[in-house]
Amino acid sequence: MPVITNIEDLRVLAQKRVPRMFYDYADSGSWTESTYRANESDFQKIKLRQRVAVNMENRSTATTMIGQNVAMPVAIAPVGLTGMQHADGEILAARAAKKFGIPFTLSTMSICSIEDVSKGTDGHPFWFQLYVMKDRGFIERLIDRAKTANCSALVLTLDLQIIGQRHKDLKNGLSAPPKLTIANLINIATKPRWALGMLGTPRREFGNIVGHVKGVENMSSLSAWTNQQFDPALNWGDVEWIKKRWGGKLIIKGIQDVEDARLSVASGADALIVSNHGGRQLDGAQSSIQALPAIVDAVGSQIEVHMDGGIRSGQDVLKARALGAKGTYIGRSMAYGLGAMGEAGVSKALEIIQRELELTMAFCGHTKIDTVDKGILLPGTFPV
Ligand code: GLV
Repeated sequence: MPVITNIEDLRVLAQKRVPRMFYDYADSGSWTESTYRANESDFQKIKLRQRVAVNMENRSTATTMIGQNVAMPVAIAPVGLTGMQHADGEILAARAAKKFGIPFTLSTMSICSIEDVSKGTDGHPFWFQLYVMKDRGFIERLIDRAKTANCSALVLTLDLQIIGQRHKDLKNGLSAPPKLTIANLINIATKPRWALGMLGTPRREFGNIVGHVKGVENMSSLSAWTNQQFDPALNWGDVEWIKKRWGGKLIIKGIQDVEDARLSVASGADALIVSNHGGRQLDGAQSSIQALPAIVDAVGSQIEVHMDGGIRSGQDVLKARALGAKGTYIGRSMAYGLGAMGEAGVSKALEIIQRELELTMAFCGHTKIDTVDKGILLPGTFPV
């Protein structure tokens, strides 16, 4: 067993252990993947200022996101098909998040259902991510199910009413469960742990949807489902309706533009997430870390600003915090841990990120995450 010391180690192991179509699904961006790559590489351009002879005892990464206590300013992002990275993946990731003391966000397009995750974590509150579909009755039922499961925030995604093209998904014939073609069987034969896990669980379809929408018994193809069911006419009036129907904490996900950030404030949401959907939607959009400062500048005093995209280390979390993000989200870093080693892998990813965050914060002269600001960044190396 290799010694795992960073997120890249988990990625390499996940690539070995997860069938190609699911590894590729998580690891892809749309079209040329330029935004996907920029999300990571733009973090690298930002340089830190080292400080010395500062008392580094009693360090703490604890803070709050939307008023909820978190062990570090990191939540698990909603990732579709997480239960295909590893059997019962959403339940395992939610358990790791619960133990660590950070929020877990369940995707609408998950394999384990809202009820599965609630049961698997003994009713511990988690966040639920909502996609808006044409069938408003189904949306109402989803919102009600999230309330019954004690979800403590609704994360409403606004940047995926139509789906970006990810070449590998088309080439691999992505579906859940995978079709038993010769190519898939040959690939799965090289992933015995994954296959055994999958044989041992009944959860192999989109658990929030199959059996909950009339006429949908088999919806294995994510892109076909999205094309048929997601509402391309979604607008801010719908956001208002959802906010009212939900009645709890609301987080708007998928904001890149200052004007949309202002509309998010006007919607009365509690937080917005600066996000380009991990580079999976509009290829050619700027990276999330690049987009963050202007949005914080415009609306940071009126709404909590979060960000996701490209976070592969605690240093990335620290840089986002320094640029005004009150919270961050990890999608792929979690999926790599899960695909590599199940729940233990997600816990490992969280430990790695927290350790990097805490040490880097101290090297920069801070012992508490809440005192970190732009002053830890080298002028001229960060977006303004
Ligand atoms: C869905 O959220 C996707 O990006 O595939």
